[in-house]
Amino acid sequence: MILSVTLNPSVDRAIHVEQLKLYDTNRVLRTETDAGGKGINLSRVADELGAKTLATGFVGGGPGGFVKSVLDREGVPYDFVEVDGETRINFSVEDAGEDPPTTFNSSGPEIAPEEWAELQAKCRRLARRGGWACMGGSVPPGLEKSAHRILIELFRELGCRTLLDADGEALRHGIEAGPNLVKPNEKEAERLLGKPAGTDEEALAAAKEIRERGVSIVILSRGERGAILACDEGIWRGTSPEIEPKSTIGSGDSMLGGFLWALEDGRSVEEAFRWGLAAGAATATTDSTEIARKPKVEELFPRAFAERID
Ligand SMILES: Nc1ncnc2c1ncn2[C@@H]1O[C@H](COP(=O)(O)OP(=O)(O)OP(=O)(O)O)[C@@H](O)[C@H]1O
Ligand SMILES: [Mg+2]
Repeated sequence: MILSVTLNPSVDRAIHVEQLKLYDTNRVLRTETDAGGKGINLSRVADELGAKTLATGFVGGGPGGFVKSVLDREGVPYDFVEVDGETRINFSVEDAGEDPPTTFNSSGPEIAPEEWAELQAKCRRLARRGGWACMGGSVPPGLEKSAHRILIELFRELGCRTLLDADGEALRHGIEAGPNLVKPNEKEAERLLGKPAGTDEEALAAAKEIRERGVSIVILSRGERGAILACDEGIWRGTSPEIEPKSTIGSGDSMLGGFLWALEDGRSVEEAFRWGLAAGAATATTDSTEIARKPKVEELFPRAFAERID
C-alpha cells in the first residue's frame, strides 16, 4: 500500500499565449487545468501502473472539489481532510518560445489546529504496517515548518516506511526525522548541503552525504541526465531514455510513483530504479502538468539503464 500525504495540493492552470506581454492584454490560445501536488501526482502514477494507493491531505472549497474530481475520473482512491480555506490555484504562462514558463504559486489556505489534528488522526487510521507513507511538497500557512517531520515520526512509529520529497526548510526539517527515502533534484540537494551537486562526481558525493544523515535510500534526480541511486544494496548511475521533452513538471513525482510501484510489486531495487527513470521520462513527454501513462512507461523502460558504480 502506498499512502501519499499532500499538505498543500493545488489546481494547476497552464495558460498558453503566443508571446507573453507584460503590462498589456494577452490573448489566451488555450488553457489546461489539472490537479497538482507531489503526493497526488505520486498516487496517480502509482495507480496508473497498478499499485494499491490512497491519497490524503487537505482540500478545500471549489478548487479542492476539482482536485477530487480529477482523482474520481482516474479512479484514484482518496480520503482527504476538508478544510475551511480554499485549495490554492497555481498559474503558469507558457508562450511559443523555448523559454521556461512564468509561474505564479500561491502559499495555500491557512490550516487551523483542529484540521491539522484531524489529519494526524486520519493518518494513524490509514497507516498500514510495512507499507509506504509518502510526504511531499510545501507546508501551508498555519502549520509549523516541522509538519513533515511530525508525520514521518508518526508513520515510523506505526511501522510504515517513509518517503519525503520536499525542498528548502521542509526538506531540512523533515530529513532530521530520518525518512527511509528522499529524492532531491540537483538544486534541492545543493540547497540542503550548501555545496554544488552538478557534476557526476558532485552528485555522487551529495547522494552519499545525504545517506550519512540517516536516510537509507537516496535518489538524486538530474532531469535529462538521469539520476543517482544510493542505498544499502549499492550505488547506481541511472540513464534516462532519450525523449522529446514537452514539460517536465511532475517528472520527479512520477519517478517516485514508478519506483515505489515496482518495489511494492516485488522487483529488485535496481529494476525499480529503472521503472522510476522510465516513469519520470514518460511524464516529461506529456504537456504541462499531465502525467505518465502506463503504455509510455512500458515503451521507455527497456531504454532506462542502471549501471552499478559502487
Ligand atoms: N528531459 C528529460 N529527458 C529524459 N528524462 C527526464 C527528463 N526530465 C526528467 N526526466 C526523468 O525524470 C526524473 C526526474 O526528473 P527531475 O530530476 O527533473 O525531477 P524534479 O526536478 O523533482 O521534477 P518535479 O519536482 O517537477 O516533479 C529524471 O531523473 C529522469 O529520469
Ligand atoms: Mg521534485
